[in-house]
Amino acid sequence: MNVSNEFSRYADHYGEHNIIQEKVADRLIGAIADAPKALLDIGCGHGAVTQRIHWSYTHLIAVDFAPRMLELHPKGKGIECIYGDFDNPELYAYLKEHRFDRIISASALQWSPDLAHTFGLIRSLGAPVSLAIFTAGTFRTLFETAGIPPLLRDAEVLEVMGETYFGARCETVRYSLSFENTREMFRYIKRSGVSGNRNILSYKEMKALMNNYPKNYLEFEVIFIES
Ligand SMILES: C[S@@+](CC[C@H](N)C(=O)[O-])C[C@H]1O[C@@H](n2cnc3c(N)ncnc32)[C@H](O)[C@@H]1O
Repeated sequence: MNVSNEFSRYADHYGEHNIIQEKVADRLIGAIADAPKALLDIGCGHGAVTQRIHWSYTHLIAVDFAPRMLELHPKGKGIECIYGDFDNPELYAYLKEHRFDRIISASALQWSPDLAHTFGLIRSLGAPVSLAIFTAGTFRTLFETAGIPPLLRDAEVLEVMGETYFGARCETVRYSLSFENTREMFRYIKRSGVSGNRNILSYKEMKALMNNYPKNYLEFEVIFIES
């Protein structure tokens, strides 16, 4: 099953398992002070960004490659939901027909396989950005316990990229989320979308990890890139 199908598969439960992404969207949107009228939301999911926009706008294009997520996204005056892959130049050919006052992306771009390429495409749209991207500190202890390298990029690497591509201010923020037991913790990982739902451990390795994980909380790390 590919990643977009996996996001669609968990779309109906997404709202129950995305506490950290909700906090990230709060912070990202809360920092926008200039009430931009024409907006682009990249990797929009079920609409956490749109739901938080409290000012009036004329046009908001919301892009995602998981059809089920797009179905759940709010529809309404000025909102255009489009199916598209944020790594694909063809999407940007269409987006270039529009002018944006701000480009937003919350909790999605960590899954770009070539972020330099994707940042280049986003920059080509010529608008200021508000991007929140999960970084290597996410599930740090979990990966250390499993003896595998982190799945995501280091915050330091992303900071340099944010400055280089967008001349942006960058801030890295850590979050933690406590659980009553490891079973609940691992269910959260599976359904939250933060892992990209990639199964990188065998069943046996996962069992061992659940027994040996030394904390009752999960760690998250997010970089906010704002220009
Ligand atoms: C963790 S969710 C975040 C959704 C929403 N922005 C939020 O803040 O709750 C990540 C979203 O990115 C989308 N996504 C991941 N890779 C993508 C890609 N290459 N192109 C378009 N959307 C993508 C997924 O389908 C999913 O809806």
